[in-house]
Amino acid sequence: MFLHGTCRQNQHGHLEIGGVDALYLAENYGTPLYVYDVALIRERAKSFQQAFTAAGLRAQVAYASKAFSSVAMIQLAQEEGLSLDVVSGGELYTAISAGFPAERIHFHGNNKSREELQMALEYHIGCIVVDNFYEISLIEELCKESGYTVDVLLRITPGVEAHTHDYITTGQEDSKFGFDLNNGQTERAIEQILPSNHIRLLGVHCHIGSQIFDTAGFVLAAEKIFTKLDEWRESYSFISKVLNLGGGFGIRYTEEDEPLPATVYVEKIIEAVKANAERYSFSIPEIWIEPGRSLVGDAGTTLYTVGAQKEVPGTRRYAAVDGGMSDNIRPALYQAKYEAISANRIEEEHNTTVSIAGKCCESGDMLIWDIDLPEVKAGDLLAVFCTGAYGYSMANNYNRIPRPAVVFVEDGEAHLVIKRETYEDIVKLDLPFKTKVKQ
Ligand code: LLP
Repeated sequence: MFLHGTCRQNQHGHLEIGGVDALYLAENYGTPLYVYDVALIRERAKSFQQAFTAAGLRAQVAYASKAFSSVAMIQLAQEEGLSLDVVSGGELYTAISAGFPAERIHFHGNNKSREELQMALEYHIGCIVVDNFYEISLIEELCKESGYTVDVLLRITPGVEAHTHDYITTGQEDSKFGFDLNNGQTERAIEQILPSNHIRLLGVHCHIGSQIFDTAGFVLAAEKIFTKLDEWRESYSFISKVLNLGGGFGIRYTEEDEPLPATVYVEKIIEAVKANAERYSFSIPEIWIEPGRSLVGDAGTTLYTVGAQKEVPGTRRYAAVDGGMSDNIRPALYQAKYEAISANRIEEEHNTTVSIAGKCCESGDMLIWDIDLPEVKAGDLLAVFCTGAYGYSMANNYNRIPRPAVVFVEDGEAHLVIKRETYEDIVKLDLPFKTKVKQ
């Protein structure tokens, strides 16, 4: 049985996370419950940063807050000296509400609204990652109106796409994001930005995919970008101060996954950037990366209470839990796989095969197919691991199920950081129908 971070079996035979008994957490905060192992998040943040420090390079490790955004999470990111990537007014507002330093916030998105851009300018955030021509004109217009100036990165699609173990290179990348590096679009964007009195072009950004298990794609992307940087120095006297290579570093959800340690991804990226800078006689640009999943993914565990069971004779046994696709849509959306254990009977042999169903009114609401657990009983506490990224952030109210609470645990202490939604919350935005029928 693989236990992440500070997860362990305690003397009562229960799962313990951050020194806190899972049964205590379930009793105190209810289930479903997202539990974050703060020490593991800190450890991951440090290892990404230390790899840059060890190389003596200026860098920014920006937490991609889309993976899990909340005031407490942003404050933890700040405490760990991370920068922050936000992709919407809502994520930006959360960051500002958490007191995160605006100058370390990077704003992404392929369709930022006028209001969102205005907000970013007013907060004086660190940089906007510009995605398209419409956005360049909007920023220019807003800056002219208000007198603001702003640093930007250009999001480019380098024609390298990475999926887990494979990466593919395409001449023309079919993606809704960014400027194509290979068809002249990026040059047109540079030509539009360089003369601006309001927009300063800091450098370029690319993000080649998610849950990536090797480093070849990052190396290839860096090579492609440097070829262009060499041309742009010649044609525009443009030197990129920053090279942002995005996120996407893989994590271990199940034994099928074999991610590299954080330091290895960073070391290979540094190696590639250094080699190319040397080859084209550039000084080394500041390297930025944007890990989301790899900072918080395996630090999150969801605790569920088992309820009903159903036997399909000769086929399968279903055990249903008190959550499902409303708190973790990844299995339904991406066929994502997870591991789980019986948190109250961790020491018992996990030798009965069951499939874990959610409680939503949808056949596809299955969290895990065919997993071995001890003989499950109603009331058992099930711990599903690795739910820290894109779990709460993609949670929804399907079937008007309230979203679970979130608890941070560290050094034997638990801390509620997001309250459980209530039924009052569920109807709080609803307005009554004004019937025309006279009562
Ligand atoms: N930077 C950019 C520009 C991104 O688009 C993303 C993720 C990241 C950084 C962070 O990637 P990470 O390190 O977390 O892989 N909902 C999907 C993942 C969508 C990722 C979108 N972009 C999932 O649950 O797997």
